[in-house]
This record gives sequence, C-alpha cells and structure tokens, in this order.
Amino acid sequence: MINIALDGPSGAGKSTLAKAIAAKLGYIYTDTGAMYRTIGLAVKRAGIATDSKAEIIALLPSLKISLGFVNGEQKIYLGEEDVGGFIRTNEISAYASKVSAIPEVRAHLLSLQRNIAAEHNVIMDGRDIGTVILPNAQVKFFVTVSDRERARRRYKELIAKGEVTTEQEVYEAMKARDLQDSTREIAPAIPAEDAVFLDNSGDFDTVIETALRIIREKTNQSERDCLS
Ligand code: DC
Repeated sequence: MINIALDGPSGAGKSTLAKAIAAKLGYIYTDTGAMYRTIGLAVKRAGIATDSKAEIIALLPSLKISLGFVNGEQKIYLGEEDVGGFIRTNEISAYASKVSAIPEVRAHLLSLQRNIAAEHNVIMDGRDIGTVILPNAQVKFFVTVSDRERARRRYKELIAKGEVTTEQEVYEAMKARDLQDSTREIAPAIPAEDAVFLDNSGDFDTVIETALRIIREKTNQSERDCLS
C-alpha cells in the first residue's frame, strides 16, 4: 500500500489539499482531526469538562468511532450517527485540542488509523502521521501557510457555516491551539525528520502539481528500493 502522511497546523489547508491529491490518485483520504473532534463532541455531549481526564478516559470504551468512504471522501460516525456536520465549530475545535493531548485518547485512535493505512492507498491528514502513526509512509509532507492567512481561511469557513466570530478571535484561538498542539508531551505537532515542507500559501494548482511530482518521485524510488 502507498501511504502519504500530510501533517501541519490547523487552517493550513491540509484537508483541501489532501482531498484533491486523493482524487487525482484514486486514494482514500483520511482526516484524523475529525476523529479527535468526534471524541471532543462526545465529551461535550456527556457533559464532561475537558480537564476531567479520568472521566474522559472512562468514556472511551463506550465510543464507537468508525469511518465510511463515499466517492473517496470520508464520513465519520459516532455509533450509527454521521457526526460530520457537528464537529467543525470553534467550540469543538477547543474540545478536540484538549482531548488530543491525553495519551489514552491517542492510543484509542492509533489502531483505527493504522488499519486504514494497512488496507488502503491513503493520504492521511493530521499532526503526528509522519512521526508516530505511519513512520514508514513512503511520502511525508508538512504543510505550511502564514498564520494570518490560516486565520483568514478558517474565519471564512466558519462564517460560511453561520458561526458568529471575528477574524481576530479565530486567529487568537488558532494560535492558542497551535501552541498547545506543538508543545504537548505526547505526539507534538512537529514535522518528521524526513518530511518535505509544502508551502500552501500560493496558487492551489501549483501546490498540487508540486505535491504530485514529489509523490511520483518518492513512490518510484520506493518501488525501486523494493525491487533491488
Ligand atoms: O486538523 P483538525 O483541526 O481538525 O484537528 C483537530 C484537533 O485534533 C487539533 O487541535 C489537533 C488534534 N489532532 C491531533 O492531535 N492529531 C491528529 N493526528 C489530528 C488532529
């Protein structure tokens, strides 16, 4: 199987990029952030505070998180419910960031993520895909975009969904979340040593072309390594 890891901070456009690459290559696209968001949603619905680590851990065995793929696109279910429409709010972002720092939560999702990669050609987007989840991925990207541009993009997404917020509020929440995600003890959101940095500030088609060229080079290389 070909595994592509696509890591980077929130709002860097990873999911748009990953979806486009997956469509071009006919791979499955997996958004691991959605899994943490779903746990965040379940924690909120259960009325558990994000600092009640023991209660969050106790909730995990009752959470059945699964994925479906429709036209190569990911659907995420909590039990039988498609929760895709509920997990992309500012509030759930904050829950997701908090729960994702709990080692037991990460362990709970690890096999789900690895199993997908074992069974499919996949482009998996997250924070620790290249470093922890798929250290042997044939291609690893770390996506970057300037902070202000990231906040602008996330703000537009939220407004389009009818959330009431300001660009500054989104910027500040995003920076706080970045700091939390990159400095946590477990699986911090940092580039793998062998990751290729992909600047996603410029023209989208050019970024896709660059990514596809790198994927071709790296996957040909790994095929050659397998044959020799
Ligand atoms: O990519 P996202 O914004 O949907 O991620 C939501 C949160 O989950 C974010 O705070 C970081 C965390 N996350 C993580 O810790 N590891 C991943 N592989 C993906 C997301």
